[in-house]
Order: sequence, then C-alpha cells, then structure tokens
Amino acid sequence: MSWSIIAGVAVGLVTVVVLFVVNDANREPVHMVVPKEKQTYVLPGEERVHRMNRKDWVGDGLISLPESGVTTLYENFSRAIALDPKADCLGHYDESKKGYVWESYGEVCDRLQNFGSGLMHLGNKVKSKVGIMAKNIPEWVIAEQACNAFNLVLVPLYDTLGPEAMTFIVGQVKLTTVIGDADAIHDLLESAKSVGIEIVIKVGEPTEKERSKADADGIKLYSVLEVEEMGNEYPREHIPPEVGDLATIQYTSGTTGNPKGVMLSHENMIADMAGAMKIINEVVSFDNEDTHISYLPLAHSFERLIQSIVWNAGAKVGFYRGDTRVILEDIAMLKPSLFISVPRLLNRVSDKIQEKVNNAGFVTGLVFKIAMWQKKRMLAKGIVANDTIWDKIAFGKVQAALGGKVRGIVSGAAPLSPSVMEFLRATMGCHVVEGYGQTECAAATSVTIPGDHDLGHVGPPLPCNEIKLIDVPEMNYYAKDGKGEVCLRGANIFLGYYEDEEKTKEAKTDDGWLLTGDIGMWTENGSLKIFDRRKNIFKLSQGEYIAPEKVEEIYTRAAGIGQVYVHGTSSESCCVAVVVPEKEDILPVLQKAGIDTSGDYGDLIRSAEVKKYVQKNIIRTWQRKWTQRI
Ligand SMILES: *[C@@H]1O[C@H](CO)[C@@H](O)[C@H](O)[C@H]1NC(C)=O
Ligand SMILES: *[C@@H]1O[C@H](CO)[C@@H](O)[C@H](O)[C@H]1NC(C)=O
Ligand SMILES: *[C@@H]1O[C@H](CO)[C@@H](O)[C@H](O)[C@H]1NC(C)=O
Repeated sequence: MSWSIIAGVAVGLVTVVVLFVVNDANREPVHMVVPKEKQTYVLPGEERVHRMNRKDWVGDGLISLPESGVTTLYENFSRAIALDPKADCLGHYDESKKGYVWESYGEVCDRLQNFGSGLMHLGNKVKSKVGIMAKNIPEWVIAEQACNAFNLVLVPLYDTLGPEAMTFIVGQVKLTTVIGDADAIHDLLESAKSVGIEIVIKVGEPTEKERSKADADGIKLYSVLEVEEMGNEYPREHIPPEVGDLATIQYTSGTTGNPKGVMLSHENMIADMAGAMKIINEVVSFDNEDTHISYLPLAHSFERLIQSIVWNAGAKVGFYRGDTRVILEDIAMLKPSLFISVPRLLNRVSDKIQEKVNNAGFVTGLVFKIAMWQKKRMLAKGIVANDTIWDKIAFGKVQAALGGKVRGIVSGAAPLSPSVMEFLRATMGCHVVEGYGQTECAAATSVTIPGDHDLGHVGPPLPCNEIKLIDVPEMNYYAKDGKGEVCLRGANIFLGYYEDEEKTKEAKTDDGWLLTGDIGMWTENGSLKIFDRRKNIFKLSQGEYIAPEKVEEIYTRAAGIGQVYVHGTSSESCCVAVVVPEKEDILPVLQKAGIDTSGDYGDLIRSAEVKKYVQKNIIRTWQRKWTQRI
C-alpha cells in the first residue's frame, strides 16, 4: 500500500470524526430544573440559610406534601393500586422457569390486606412494632405495606448489626413479632425466647426441626402463607395512618455504643419522596413500563426512598436473586430503567470496563479514547446522549451490560469519586446523579441536578428542606467564610431517636435543625460540597463509619507498640495504620515469639517477619478489647 493511500485513509477518518463531532454539537443540552449558575438562593433575613432556587418555589416555603395530596405511604401505595391493578408490581426470580415471575398490583393488594389482617389477628394493635429480618424479597414489601395499611411500625433488622445490637433493639422496642427469611430464621429462633420475641413468621415453610424448636421454647411459629390465610379467614378493615404517625424505626449502627433508632413518620418519608421526585421526574419520569432492580438493602432508607418513587409511578420492582455474583444476569433479565448504586459497586464496574479496554489492544483503546474525549466535551455542554456514533462503536456493550434501558443512575450512601462519575456519564450515556443525606433526613437532602455535569459537589438542597452552615471553631471553619457544619431543616427531618432523649438533643436543635456532622461549603454556583467530617469520623466506600481515635486507642495497647496513626478516605474500603514500635518494649516481645533480635534494630523492624507478627498482634488485641467492650 502506498503512503498516499494511507494518508488518504487517515484524512478520511479524521474528516469522519470531525463530521460526527460537529453533528453531536447540534444536540440540545438537558433542560435543568434550576439555573445552573444559581442553584440556591439565600433566604432573605435568614442569613446563610440556603434553599433551592426556582422561580415557582422562591418565597413560598418548602415542599412537604406532593401535589397529588397524598399524605402517607399508605395513600401513595393505594393510589398506585387504583391506577392499574393489573400492572406488574413485584418480581422475583423463579428457578423452575429460569426467569422472573410477576405479581400484579392487584395481587399485592390482596396479599397485604390478608397479611395485615393476619398480623392484627395475632394480637398486634395500632402502632405495634413489627420486626423484619430478610433479604430484599417481595414479602418485605408485602410486610411493609401491610404495616402501612394497619398503622403498624416496621422495624428492619439486618445481620451486620451483630447479635448484641440485635438483642438491644428487640429489647428497646419490645418487639414481639418478627418476620424472617430462611437465612435469618435459625438465629431468630435461637434467641427468640431469651429476648422476648413471641411470634416468628417465616418466609417459606418452616422445617420440622424449626417447628419443634419453637414448640419447645413456647414461640408461635408461622409461615407468611399461614398468616395470609389467617387474614383471609378473619379480614380486618384497614386502619390508615395519619400523616404525622410513626412509619418506621430504622436502626443505624454507631461507631461506639448502642445502635440508634431513627424514628421516621409518614410525613418524613413522603416529604423526602416529594422533594426527590421534583428533581428526578422532570427529567426521567417513570410509568408502569419501567423497572427498578432492588438489591441495596431495604433495611436502609436509600432503597426505601427509591421504592416509594417507584410506587408513585405504578412501576415495577424486580428483586435480585440475593447473590451479587449473578447480579449481571438478573440485570440482563430485568432491564432496569433506573439503576441505584453505591460507590463501592460503581468503582468496580468502572474498573472492570477500564481493564477490558486496556486488554483489548491498540485500535480498540484508541477508539475508546476518542469516544471518551468527545462524550466528555458533550457533557461539558450539558448534553446527555446514548445514541451517538461513539455509543455505537465504543460503549454499546457497556450499556447493554446494564440491560440497555437505563435512563438514570443514582449513587448514594458515600461520596462517588469525580473521575468515576465522569466515566459513567460518558460511557452509560444517561443521567448520573449523586445524592447526599442520611437516615435522619429520610435518605436524601440534596441531589445533583440532571444536566449539571460539574464534578465534586452534591447539588442544591431538595425542595423539601433547607440547608445552612454553622461555625465549627475547633476546626477553624466559619460560616462567614462559607464553610461549616451542614444543618438541615424540613418536613423530612426525623422525629428523634427512639427512647433516647440525649442523643436526639445532640442531633437536632430545638428549632428543628438536624446537625449532620459533615463539613460543607457552597460552590460558586450554589451547590453543596462536602469536604470534611466533624469529630473526625469518616466513612469508607462501603458506608462504614470509622472513628480513627478509637481504633488507635485500642491498637496502641498491643504489646511493644508506641504510637499508631489510622487513616482512611471515603474512596477506599479499608483503612491504613502507621504503627511505630517502642524499642525497649518490642524487643522482649519479639524474643518471646522466637524471633532472632541480635541484628541491626532498623533492619529487624523493617523485616517482613516482624511486620507480620506485629500486625497479627494488634489484630488480636483489637479482637480481645472489642469483645470485652460489648
Ligand atoms: C404518590 O405521591 C406522589 C408525590 O410524591 C404523587 O405525585 C403521586 O401521584 C402519588 N402516587 C399516586 C399513584 O397517586
Ligand atoms: C438510551 O436512552 C433512551 C432515552 O433515555 C432509552 O429509552 C434507551 O433505552 C437508552 N438505550 C440504551 C442502550 O441504554
Ligand atoms: C459553575 O458553573 C460554570 C458555568 O457552567 C462552570 O464553568 C463552573 O465550573 C461551575 N463551578 C463549579 C464549582 O462547579
């Protein structure tokens, strides 16, 4: 081939790229619900209190209830049933069919009516607490909606709380009825008698062994089906909750001490839903053709907020099989329109794609690079698209891996790194937004606005709440400089911690401000940026809180250790400790362990053998001290 042909082909290719690039630039940018450069405004007369900036919301307070007039989770779900009782509601994987089977809204309506009647027949009264310990399965939602229909309070339990915390919770709320799946049932039955649980309801048929264990302990054991049959035989009228009634107590594990029971009312949860929907619905609105894949724990508020938005649209929830190793297959079958995730998972997704590209050879790599470059340019102009030539030649497989129908990705629970955020926006060609919040505000307090593709912030306050920053003198942050502790107020802010006046007072001021403990600042465009944490507690990428001083305090107690420094960031899933031994103390310890200490001390301390021994030692100290505490 002569050079002129090669040059011709190259010029041709460049021309094609240029033509497509020019073509891409003609696309419409996303219409943002608030002006990009002024996403919040400062409340007149109330210095430093920021609200979302939108003409029709300015001045006239915050949103607490949706336009539809729905005031409780019960009303919201009932309306969805009325919208189209034949529409699919809950889907689970059926092994024999090798696919998903669906229960319609009408069927779910019957089941929640029966299950709720059954719960009442078993002796529960209005405002009784009902525990649930189960993976994400249809029965979780049936139980939740049954509680809503009869004004019962759902208390989710989850196994990472640990046995001591669980005993504490059951005792604190005096749980007498607990629903458990096959994984939870053994532990539930083992501990039921000692903690005072009287009724255990198993998802699935109890085994002979389980029945006799329950009999021996005087525990009433039923299957969910039995309770539904009971309710069918003794039907009860719904007892709809009032807007201010307690809907759920969500326990959050603290770094120290007992877990705290976050009390959320129907109003709290509906307000947060109404606020989130104002943002999300204007860009990606859902209907009953849309599916959400449920795999983030329902015991946390994030997934429950998302599901309330799904019910609102009368859309579908499909549950993953409970095994993250095959979740991609579940996704391929369910074809979700909204993908809710946490940084830990999204990081893995982006690493995997990157790795595949790196291994795919020069040409593929180059095409991917050009495509990335162009998609990022489009994002900078506010353009979101999944049908450009770049999507076809470079990102088609990636988009297909998430089912090929994703219109929005929401990340929450911990900060998403800006580079991963940008990578996902470019490759997935859909809206990728990040929410910020905590259980105490019913999940979300702010979310990045679709169409704003600047990185490193968490958007303006949702229209259901306002945000202000207050001074943190001990850390040298002052609100007058635009930095301080983030405080939230609105109808979504929790009622308080269950039977814990003291901790409630620490978290919530008399005039309703929730102190988050996060340190934030306002960007020039009026969105919030979180950059530090009060009291030096940080969150790892899986959402776990670490109080480094506490860890250091215990590690330093290992034999021969002088100083310890623990460090971690929210983009990683584990911490790093820098450990300094004390020469006089460590030598005898090492000798006792049979390590030769006759050589140079510096070499000795740097040797792999010693490092390994010291690491083992501090971990053992940790385990010992930790078990003593609880
Ligand atoms: C549920 O509440 C939302 C408001 O957040 C409302 O827009 C919607 O219409 C309600 N759902 C139904 C089916 O009425
Ligand atoms: C591309 O986006 C559209 C509109 O948001 C959506 O309907 C479609 O399913 C998306 N396609 C892929 C492959 O994700
Ligand atoms: C604010 O908006 C402008 C204009 O879109 C943009 O150039 C700038 O990067 C934004 N600033 C931040 C901190 O996001």
